Amino acid sequence: MGFFISFEGVEGCGKTTQMEMLKDHLEWKGKRVLAVREPGGTELGERIRAILLNVEREKELYGDEKSIEGLDPWAELMLYEACRAQLVKKVIKPALDEGKVVLCDRYTDSTVSYQGFGRGLDIEAIRSLNRWASMGVVPDITFVVDCSPEVGLKRAVSRIESKGAGPREDRFENEAIEFHERVRQGYLKLAAEEPVRVKVVDGEREIAVIHKEICDIMEKIEKKKIN
Ligand code: TYD
Repeated sequence: MGFFISFEGVEGCGKTTQMEMLKDHLEWKGKRVLAVREPGGTELGERIRAILLNVEREKELYGDEKSIEGLDPWAELMLYEACRAQLVKKVIKPALDEGKVVLCDRYTDSTVSYQGFGRGLDIEAIRSLNRWASMGVVPDITFVVDCSPEVGLKRAVSRIESKGAGPREDRFENEAIEFHERVRQGYLKLAAEEPVRVKVVDGEREIAVIHKEICDIMEKIEKKKIN
């Protein structure tokens, strides 16, 4: 069996950067590494991703009422789970069976934090769907790159604006802060429940400092599990 690592956190926390840096580091150490992202990572998943993120974008631009059709939170949940089922079956599990290190940008903890703590859907129902969709494949380690929603959203908005997507309304940002604060607290709760698997790293520090902490944590468990 390979080794499975997931990266989690609120928007703009820097997890994707950290995941890429860890990928380079592990490859430099001679590991066979596969990096994937959720939602996405398969042909079906990328199509579903386009649906999910377009609806998000509409909401960002026009607000809930004016977007073409609000996405029902349960429908949204099922779309994330459909993506996951396809990704685990077709990509993650085969790679782990081949002995690879798999890095995943978001996984089941995103669903508990966003759809559960963020949107208020039943956490136990989500956990159950997560188990079915993931075929019981649980990360060996999960890094929660923790940062305040204010810092994360500022980074995310400047990223969007630098791509020419235009500024967002203040009203949306204020709503988003509360939503993302619930998501953040959700992650911290999950970390407190499962301290061995879920490691919280402070994402408001220098990129290189965070990377070093992640590598140090990996070093400790690597000795036991990755070979
Ligand atoms: P993405 O553009 O990948 O954002 P980020 O760089 O922050 O990861 O979009 C992923 C979005 O999907 C993000 O807003 C979180 C959301 N999401 C859920 O709400 N539930 C889930 O189960 C997953 C996997 C993602």
